[in-house]
Amino acid sequence: MTDSFSATAEIRLALQNGLGADMVLTDSADMLTYCRDWHGDVTSGALAVLRPRSTEDVAAAIRLCRTLGVQLVPQGGNTGLVLGGLPDHPERQVIISLERMNKIRRIDPDDFSAVAEAGCILSDLKDAIADRGMFFPLALGAQGSCRIGGNVSTNAGGINVLRYGMTRELVLGLEVVLPDGTIFEGLSTLRKDNRGIDLKQLFIGAEGTLGIVTAVSLKLAPYPENVATALLGLASLEDAITLFRRARRDCCDLMSAFEFIPPLAFTLAREAMPDLPIPIAGDYPAYVLMEISGSGLVDIDDLMQRFLEAAMTDGLVLDGTIAASQAQARNLWLIREGMNEGQAKRGSHMRSDVSVPLSGLAAFVAEAEAALAAALPDCISISYGHVGDGNVHLNVLPPSHMQGDARLEAIYAAKTVLNEVVDRFDGSISAEHGIGRLKRPDFESRLPETHRHLLVAIKRAVDPELLLNPGCQLSFSTIS
Ligand code: FAD
Ligand code: LAC
Ligand code: ZN
Repeated sequence: MTDSFSATAEIRLALQNGLGADMVLTDSADMLTYCRDWHGDVTSGALAVLRPRSTEDVAAAIRLCRTLGVQLVPQGGNTGLVLGGLPDHPERQVIISLERMNKIRRIDPDDFSAVAEAGCILSDLKDAIADRGMFFPLALGAQGSCRIGGNVSTNAGGINVLRYGMTRELVLGLEVVLPDGTIFEGLSTLRKDNRGIDLKQLFIGAEGTLGIVTAVSLKLAPYPENVATALLGLASLEDAITLFRRARRDCCDLMSAFEFIPPLAFTLAREAMPDLPIPIAGDYPAYVLMEISGSGLVDIDDLMQRFLEAAMTDGLVLDGTIAASQAQARNLWLIREGMNEGQAKRGSHMRSDVSVPLSGLAAFVAEAEAALAAALPDCISISYGHVGDGNVHLNVLPPSHMQGDARLEAIYAAKTVLNEVVDRFDGSISAEHGIGRLKRPDFESRLPETHRHLLVAIKRAVDPELLLNPGCQLSFSTIS
């Protein structure tokens, strides 16, 4: 028996004795789903997977891990796309999954607020809130699996950001277990509270590096009963952005989504969902999936009709279809969602979630796609997403025959080419998915000294023993 084997066995036993066998998984088959990323590109391991049922369980787990010298990697639904929730040193790290902390503590329609535990699945939470006539606007393709604590920790974006903001703007308060096992009790539902620095902001987008979020109080909106969804064919991305500007002006704040979809999306979506109907005839260079929504007395259908009639008369929109039912609207959204699955089916690829100022977005995509075509002629670039926020997912798919090291090298080269163009446009290499472990080198190499200094100072102050998710966002050597 090797030393490391017996050390692992000892730690596992100490975790089981200290926390109870019910909270601790150690069998590698049981741990597999927690240790593999959504795309199946990366499989890690862990000393154990801890599954607390309460905030006190989380605090006890942190205290015990601290005494054992074991680091904790928090995990929600494990849908993150940058490896933030997967251990990079399985021999000294446990995963702490919040999945069993999934109670909704309160929904208060009069206060336009809800309080939920971190492990609530986003779509379950949205459904429960909708049952009370209210709306929680965060919406993303992974909503059937991701959990609200993960959403807060990544400051998730999604399709409704242009109207309701990122997760940060939807959070009223947080309960967080700190690395020393104490609890930050900040579950207020106050809308206005200027008592000094807003400490909860430290944990939003921190990707589990400063504390474990155990509960969240959320800002709700009236349920938008009236929704108009349209799929439109256009001549170019540039026209799509012109249309977006017009929609902001003409539809006021009632536009809730504006997603850019390239023609390849239909092929990819069909590869994932062969029976998916594509309800638009003809072949256009660019498509937009647009949604206008509202509650109460506003005539949303009329607004969409009039807006599109004017855009078609002016030749900006070449063709379009408005969903006649919720089922049809759902099918339109499945095209947008299916294209992610279609890309996953084509194997490992370069994924990005970059942003540039909206005014430069069309030029940015043209330049980046041209640079990628020149550098990697065998690969396919695909640009899509939440362009209304200046955010685009510009992904690069290597051909199926390119495997092994050649594929990895192409992915790396594509990322380097893309990031150079992002830098020239003063953009962000991470508009919504976060840094995790995947983007850490690119993040750190671009980090201004003052930013680095502040980030390291905060980490050292809150987590001096580097217990929580070390290696995520910043490298261990940067902090220690
Ligand atoms: P996980 O993947 O489990 O964890 C993410 C990070 O948060 C990790 O660093 C983890 O350590 C930390 N963490 C998790 N829970 C906690 C906690 N309770 N306390 C402290 N730290 C914690 N993202 C977008 O922003 N917009 C999109 O449109 C979008 N679409 C997606 C579509 C698909 C198909 C997929 C697979 C992913 C998509 N994502 C999107 C990425 C992902 O869904 C989000 O980042 C989501 O917020 C992650 O939530 P999760 O519960 O799965 O977190
Ligand atoms: C999306 C994810 C990938 O927008 O962020 O589909
Ligand atoms: Zn996205």
